[in-house]
Amino acid sequence: MTNEWKTLMEDCASCQGCELHKTRTNCVFGTGNTSADILFVGEAPGEQEDLSGTPFVGRAGKLLDQFLFAVDLPREEVYIANILKCRPPKNRDPLPEEEDACMEFLRRQVRLIRPKIIVCLGRISAMRLIKPDFKITREHGEWFQKGDFLITAVYHPALLLRDPRRKEEMLVDMKRIKEKLDSLREETQA
Ligand code: URA
Repeated sequence: MTNEWKTLMEDCASCQGCELHKTRTNCVFGTGNTSADILFVGEAPGEQEDLSGTPFVGRAGKLLDQFLFAVDLPREEVYIANILKCRPPKNRDPLPEEEDACMEFLRRQVRLIRPKIIVCLGRISAMRLIKPDFKITREHGEWFQKGDFLITAVYHPALLLRDPRRKEEMLVDMKRIKEKLDSLREETQA
């Protein structure tokens, strides 16, 4: 692990940039391959994540793991983070000022990881990272070019727990994402 990465983790663990630091058990920095080609960005830690310090370990996380497995993207190969690093009370939506206070951590993560693809998990992440009026039901799976990387959004796994009929669309999106990743990797090898 590089010094820059360590400093970033320490900065995050000691952050008091918004009120959420008062109620957190752990700062949920992110997990996975720090030079991953693909970065998944969720919304904010839930209860299990706050307790463990690791993103997507609760029920939604288990479902995400199934989709990653289905498209042959092992969790160790990807990086997974959230817009917010601290859990909002009762899992309410992040407040704009909380997102503003936390975004610099994600920006620094992106600069160090340098992924080829960023995948927003759910509408909150897509509205922050793609565009404020992003409509997840209409625009999931679409590609947007942002600087050096491609960005897309898929349904949040927690939504799929509530509405399992959307799982088929999720699988289609995830397969296309994997295909795109494979083709980008081939391009860089050629
Ligand atoms: N939901 C998220 O958006 N992130 C997590 O880490 C867990 C659940």
